[in-house]
Amino acid sequence: MFCKSNEELDTLVNDARKVASLGKVADYIPELGKANGNDLSIAIHYPDGNCISAGDVERKITLQSVSKVISLALVLMDRGYQYVFDRVGMEPTGDPFNSIARLERANVAKPLNPMINAGALVVTHMIKGNNVEERFQRLLNFIHDIADNRKIGYSTNVAQSEFETAYLNRSLGYFLKQHGLINEDIEQLLGLYTRQCAIEMNCLDLARIGLVLAMDGVDPSSGKVIIPVDVARICKTFMVTCGMYDASGEFAIKIGIPAKSGVSGGIMGAVPGKFGIGIFGPALDEKGNSIAGIKLLELLSKKYRLSMF
Ligand code: DON
Repeated sequence: MFCKSNEELDTLVNDARKVASLGKVADYIPELGKANGNDLSIAIHYPDGNCISAGDVERKITLQSVSKVISLALVLMDRGYQYVFDRVGMEPTGDPFNSIARLERANVAKPLNPMINAGALVVTHMIKGNNVEERFQRLLNFIHDIADNRKIGYSTNVAQSEFETAYLNRSLGYFLKQHGLINEDIEQLLGLYTRQCAIEMNCLDLARIGLVLAMDGVDPSSGKVIIPVDVARICKTFMVTCGMYDASGEFAIKIGIPAKSGVSGGIMGAVPGKFGIGIFGPALDEKGNSIAGIKLLELLSKKYRLSMF
């Protein structure tokens, strides 16, 4: 896809990059620790097919938690509202993304929302298919449709690296299995979940996914409904309330755009009715969100009055 580099965006990227040195690249997944903390890039995708960018937008990144929005959309389409929300809640936690604390405190060990790791594991568990391979392929095909790119695959290195070190997610998985929210083999589920998180694309693809959500699930180039409007609405609502974990409130006030972050430094944003955003900036703040990416969105939102509130 053709994307024009844009001077105004370049200036904003250079300003935002100044805070990258205050952040740190995630290294609890060893492969992610190899990223360059100074990188920062952005692509903006409009419904008329135009695209503007700044930085190395062709660089591939893994989705990590950004994938949680897409797996949620798929299981809502697979299983319906009632089934999904009987098993995962709708409330923000105010806790870090990998926290186990609330599961034990609640009456029913139901994860509070699908964006935290506990909730995302339950969501991935719900992806339909006859075996793990089929479930993964269904998710990947769905991503191909939304991003309009059939070349998107996953990084075996990142998947393997996370699988070998996912001690916290293992704990969450076994806890949830004990409480009946998951009834498959946890190692198998982790294999699927870590592959999901390792799905790899560039900022242009990320912006294309944001665009489809911004357009209520419709692919603007073909007019085809890829995600039913109600499912797209639910996804965007979770992006606002839980997309930045325990920084979602501040993000809503300062930026006001439905967005989802991942520990690889990716952020996918959907400006309702207007455009999709894909950002990559691997240096993270203490909450696990791209520090320069958030700064960039703040500058962008102020300059172009993008807040939906
Ligand atoms: O499960 C994990 O810990 C990672 N695969 C994804 C976490 C993540 O991206 C949190 N986001 N900021």
